[in-house]
Amino acid sequence: MQIITDIKEMQEFARQMVSCGHSIGFVPTMGCLHRGHLSLIEAARVDNDVVVISVFVNPTQFGPKEDFARYPRDLAADSALADAAGVDVLFCPEAMDMYPAGFGSYVLPEGLDGRLCGQSRPGHFRGVCTVVLKLFNIIYPKRAYFGQKDAQQFIILQRMARDLNLDIEMLRQPIIREADGLALSSRNVYLQAQERGQALVLSRAIGQAERLFAAGERKSSVLLNAVQAELATASLGRLEYAELVDMENLLPLDILDKQALLALAMRFGATRLIDNTIL
Ligand code: PAJ
Repeated sequence: MQIITDIKEMQEFARQMVSCGHSIGFVPTMGCLHRGHLSLIEAARVDNDVVVISVFVNPTQFGPKEDFARYPRDLAADSALADAAGVDVLFCPEAMDMYPAGFGSYVLPEGLDGRLCGQSRPGHFRGVCTVVLKLFNIIYPKRAYFGQKDAQQFIILQRMARDLNLDIEMLRQPIIREADGLALSSRNVYLQAQERGQALVLSRAIGQAERLFAAGERKSSVLLNAVQAELATASLGRLEYAELVDMENLLPLDILDKQALLALAMRFGATRLIDNTIL
């Protein structure tokens, strides 16, 4: 596996691959790789000639009071995992090269960015869209792989690809969980033992909703009541949102007469966890 930090060098490598007719599968990450990221790499490995991942903790998607400075970083561990997973290139640019002095062009995803996570993270999805478009312009992928774990992120990026006519297949992969149900996240390392125990309410609440849905329940109010009752059992948790929304526009649905996203966000101390399912 090659490690590339220089943007021009990455572009040169990607251009050569594409000109030889090789397809590039791309997995953008912020590092601290876990099995969730590895599942995206595996999918990219199956579909493409060359697999590139990026490891870049993107400053523009963090709010001023968020965890940018303490976000876990471990490039040595990441490169060992990526290498073992069959990654061809790990691209890890410097922030000052991605955002040099005078940088001022952003992708603004209107509408969808104010919903769900956007309510408490203003500007977050602007940062995500901007960095992902920049990475696409450096890596020239044929396909890009994202986790359903960040469902709103995927929906927004998919719309960006459509709106801006990107010739890139955007692929969504299932959520990978711990054996006890907790969705894997780089932020799980922040959880204290007691918080880690209580964090299971998220996957339990999702399980409740899935069972009710499978039994025929289609009223959002009934499904959300069950979800909220489960979430309320976590004394250390502070619910940020629990919503059932249309997969296209992220607006709340009263009746589930089309595909819906059940999306949850809860804080445990300073740690913000999200989880979701598609009903
Ligand atoms: P990061 O949080 O590192 O996640 C990188 C990718 O891994 C995302 O597509 C995310 O949805 C996926 N992922 C994370 N946990 C997962 C899990 N448990 N199961 C399946 N997939 C999972 O998301 C970002 O980074 C950034 O916003 C990024 C897109 C890289 C832009 O900076």
